[in-house]
Amino acid sequence: MQVLRVLNSSFNQHGAALIASLLRAKPNANLVIATGNTPMGVYDELAKLKLQGELDSSSLHAFQLDAYADVPLSDPRSLQGWSRRSFVEPLGLAEKQFTPLIGYSDNHERACQSYHDAVIKAGGYDLAILGLGPNGHLGFNEPPSSKTSTTRVISLTEESLISNAVYWGRGNVPTQALTAGMDLLLAAKQILLLVTGKHKYEILQKTLYGAITPEVPSSYLQASQHVMVLADEAALGS
Ligand code: PGA
Repeated sequence: MQVLRVLNSSFNQHGAALIASLLRAKPNANLVIATGNTPMGVYDELAKLKLQGELDSSSLHAFQLDAYADVPLSDPRSLQGWSRRSFVEPLGLAEKQFTPLIGYSDNHERACQSYHDAVIKAGGYDLAILGLGPNGHLGFNEPPSSKTSTTRVISLTEESLISNAVYWGRGNVPTQALTAGMDLLLAAKQILLLVTGKHKYEILQKTLYGAITPEVPSSYLQASQHVMVLADEAALGS
């Protein structure tokens, strides 16, 4: 695991540069793309690189990371909608370049299985772009999640319900979600964990230096060689 400490003011450029360099090496890379606050500026920078002709997004493939259960695409809370607005559309991806994790079907288990099969068929993720939940979740792999947990439906913990209330309002956060499994995420050829802000300091310490445990799903990243943690000074502390 490599930790890159950057100034908050250059965080987004650094994140975009790391992703762009991977795409230069492998233009048809499979990326799994987190939503949440942290990656948004990074995605904006990537879109700028594309506009400047410095990024070719014509053959990459993006996979949605997680989805609220029973929330239709038309709902502002849809994470598929957010993935599309923040990444798929700004990077001009064709429909066939995006694989959603469908949270609004009548059979969530089947949706999870077909997503899993699509990732495996594509050869797995080349790059997992992840944020860090305040409880150590990756995607919606809520604690406890073991390193072999599969793509599945999961109940959100109280902590996630509270942290996601900033987007949707208290009592308005769906209580169940579908998430790409830890098995798929940890098998990614590279993982980029994006972390900013003082409020992530404690969980980042646990992620980097704490016990490796299902109670902190992000702690499994310690065991992987292919992890780059990009964090600002506030999240890393002095
Ligand atoms: P954030 O979310 O990027 O909005 O902090 C991270 C997460 O909860 O996974």
